[in-house]
Amino acid sequence: MTEFQAPKGVPEYFPPRSAAFLAVREALAYPAEHAGYGYIELPVFEDTALFVRGVGESTDVVSKEMYTFLDRGERSLSLRPEGTAGVMRSIVENRLDKGVLPVKLWYAGPFFRAERPQHGRYRQLQQVGLEAVGGDDPALDAEVIALADEGFKRLGLRQYRLDLTSLGCAQCRPAYRHVLTAFLDTCDLDDATRQRATVNPLRVLDDKRDEVQRQLGDAPLMVDHLCSSCQEHYDAVRGFLSDAGVEWVEAPRLVRGLDYYTRTTFEFTHELLGAQSGIGGGGRYDGLMASVGGSDLSGIGFGLGTDRTLLACEAEGLDVGAGARVDVFIVPIGEAPRHEAVRLLTRLRQAGVRADMAYGGRGVKGSMKAADRSGAPTVVIIGEDEVASRTAQVKNMIDGTQVAVALDSLLDEVQHRAPQEGTS
Ligand code: HAM
Repeated sequence: MTEFQAPKGVPEYFPPRSAAFLAVREALAYPAEHAGYGYIELPVFEDTALFVRGVGESTDVVSKEMYTFLDRGERSLSLRPEGTAGVMRSIVENRLDKGVLPVKLWYAGPFFRAERPQHGRYRQLQQVGLEAVGGDDPALDAEVIALADEGFKRLGLRQYRLDLTSLGCAQCRPAYRHVLTAFLDTCDLDDATRQRATVNPLRVLDDKRDEVQRQLGDAPLMVDHLCSSCQEHYDAVRGFLSDAGVEWVEAPRLVRGLDYYTRTTFEFTHELLGAQSGIGGGGRYDGLMASVGGSDLSGIGFGLGTDRTLLACEAEGLDVGAGARVDVFIVPIGEAPRHEAVRLLTRLRQAGVRADMAYGGRGVKGSMKAADRSGAPTVVIIGEDEVASRTAQVKNMIDGTQVAVALDSLLDEVQHRAPQEGTS
């Protein structure tokens, strides 16, 4: 074992797999960028109270999984476990809600949860997320869900499902909670589960144990207790989702791990990922902004798991981000050719050609091996003879053919060689 290792439960992405990680992140962010969402770079740590109030004290995420510390001024800070509370804080603090509504923002980066690490469950997890704040139009709910779906589709994913439900609002949920609690009182539950039911009875619906599920067959469901405005909203969301060509499954028992959700709530799961199958989730949050000191604006958003989406792509055998890291690789043989190579490399890179060269003055064999490993479809070989004749040998690595090209027209030659499929 090496002297230092990355912290437990923290995945690292290095070549070649890091190219796939970047491709996944880009594909998940693309729909938001192209739908007019602006980028927001959030602090990685915030006032602990923001998450306690925003995400909810009773959630596992806040009560058990936060990385909390005191800074040198004895202020309690926490590494962000999620992005929505931070976006709300920033909108309020920077008065972004005083302009055109809805405020549409997207973000990407690491989040931190001290969970028990396992396949697909990390302590530093990566998300691409977005929030649309200051609008309760059901068409906006459909837009947000469609943008998540489009990200997964861009990657070519097929074996995933969208679960959808409505969690009601401050009017109808308390009444439903009452009905559900009365029902749970008639069930045979252990003390720990009873305790959970008093904190949030909806969580019991999500209990995976057979002996609990067996008793929940007739449990009352939120969707059967929606008030008329929540019912209207939910019907409209489904209508707009159909317009947007998104398919979903009704999931009346869907329970999310964060407390701020109201009305439309959703989760994407992938069927090949086993226990950690959630590749993304989100929903509407009516009271969140007011709870962190802002105006009473509703919003909706999602967080998509970049790590898990990559695992899903791999499970489906999708070759995302594959291909050569450069288009041209230069092999100098001798000292004068090394100078020629650096000049050529500079020109190629300035012209936007992805290029690399063999360093370390290795022999022809070692250099050609490096050229091969780079995956570049074009290799430029420069020896002393070539320097003298102001030419270079240009080798096509796909078919093995080689031609001499004048150094002055090399850039043209390289640019004319169409990039091979999968290399750009
Ligand atoms: P979340 O469901 O807690 O939602 O996380 C979103 C996604 O992040 C999950 O579906 C999963 O793919 C990924 N994820 C969460 N925890 C882990 C972990 N320990 N390891 C690997 N991946 C993980 C939120 O965070 C909300 N802020 C989403 C949202 C935005 N709702 C409204 N706006």
